[in-house]
Amino acid sequence: MSDQAKVRVLLLESIHPDAVSRLEAEGYEVESLRNALDESELIARIPGVKLLGIRSKTKVTAKVLDAADSLVAIGAFCIGTDQIDLTAASASGVAVFNAPFSNTRSVVELAIAEIISMTRRLTEKNTLMHAGVWDKSADGAHEIRGRRLGIIGYGNIGTQLSVLAENLGMYVSFYDTADKLALSNAHRCATIEELLETSDVVTIHVDGRPGNAGFFGAEQFKRMREGALFLNLSRGIVVDHVALREALESGHLAGAAVDVFPTEPKGRGDEFVSELRGLPNVILTPHIGGSTEEAQSDIGGFVANKLAAFVEEGNTTLSVNLPGVALPEQAGQSRIGHVHVNTPGVLAQVNSILAEHKVNVEGQLLSTRGEYGYLITDISGGFSDDVLERLRSMEQTVRLRVLS
Ligand SMILES: NC(=O)c1ccc[n+]([C@@H]2O[C@H](COP(=O)([O-])OP(=O)(O)OC[C@H]3O[C@@H](n4cnc5c(N)ncnc54)[C@H](O)[C@@H]3O)[C@@H](O)[C@H]2O)c1
Repeated sequence: MSDQAKVRVLLLESIHPDAVSRLEAEGYEVESLRNALDESELIARIPGVKLLGIRSKTKVTAKVLDAADSLVAIGAFCIGTDQIDLTAASASGVAVFNAPFSNTRSVVELAIAEIISMTRRLTEKNTLMHAGVWDKSADGAHEIRGRRLGIIGYGNIGTQLSVLAENLGMYVSFYDTADKLALSNAHRCATIEELLETSDVVTIHVDGRPGNAGFFGAEQFKRMREGALFLNLSRGIVVDHVALREALESGHLAGAAVDVFPTEPKGRGDEFVSELRGLPNVILTPHIGGSTEEAQSDIGGFVANKLAAFVEEGNTTLSVNLPGVALPEQAGQSRIGHVHVNTPGVLAQVNSILAEHKVNVEGQLLSTRGEYGYLITDISGGFSDDVLERLRSMEQTVRLRVLS
């Protein structure tokens, strides 16, 4: 099913070739540009484009959406969607998709590498070797086997790390504010204090909700065990870096690995300023937890699949802004996708218009999310333009798509 013969796709910011080939395989006409476009350039290019793919640099503003006469969906080929005016997108019935899980494994692997590196004090040995110093000693170097890893935030990343760390012979504890199933032998801590007091390595994988800003500071570092290691690969705002520096300088902590910072340089080559520079056994990385070629390829395929599923079947599973609806296709039927303002009686009104025109409904699924609702209706047999006209002219209708 597809609502129009030709689907024009505009991809910006060097989106992975896997996305291009996936969309071309659907028969879409794909134009892929290397760079981001600014607002006026995008406004000039957007008419006639049905699918827009961007990464983090392109801003999709209300003005861009106003100029987008054919746009049905935007793919953010990344995790964040702050660069898109989601309110304006929903008000135009434009679905937005991103790739929330694609780089999680990359983050987990970096965390594992850093836990081993710090436990063996590899960065120090490496620095000495490059300075010509042969310091063969076992002092302060340990195995990770048998040590306890405390994971704060047991979501997509925390749970995967839990499984891999256990496979490497670590014991795992976790603390999460939500009820989470403990995987394998992981121990769920009732309080964050229990985790801090019992773990040899503490790693943070919470999300960036506003309440988490600065939630890990001097008090939490003090609660950690003498000689423990600390990692943060989640969000920079979560940790007080002055307190972390003090905990490291006093020798209370034996090392830290930090990938995310409260303020990060804007571009490559800009100076990186941090309280954590110049400390021994501290691994600093430029927010690369999720930056691997595998993650980029996975993001390309994942988001392209979501865009194609929306164009072909009207499915909105995992959309960032529209209610999630997925209905299996039935051969020989037509499908109507109806984004509407979520007010009482919309379903009854749609069905009464269909009944009045003797249109037979074969399948129907409705979901709502805040201000908006999304209804998919499968119909057998034909229907007149009058049906569509009546549905379009309902005052709650935001967008109507016919997939035939
Ligand atoms: N370094 C990188 O390049 C990189 C890449 C991807 C993701 N991330 C970041 O990693 C973090 C985790 O990602 P995810 O996909 O696992 O997220 P997620 O939403 O799946 O999991 C977050 C978990 O943290 C829990 N949580 C939230 N606040 C908490 C608190 N104060 N105490 C305890 N638990 C709390 C939530 O209940 C949830 O289970 C996010 O902040 C994300 O932005 C970083």
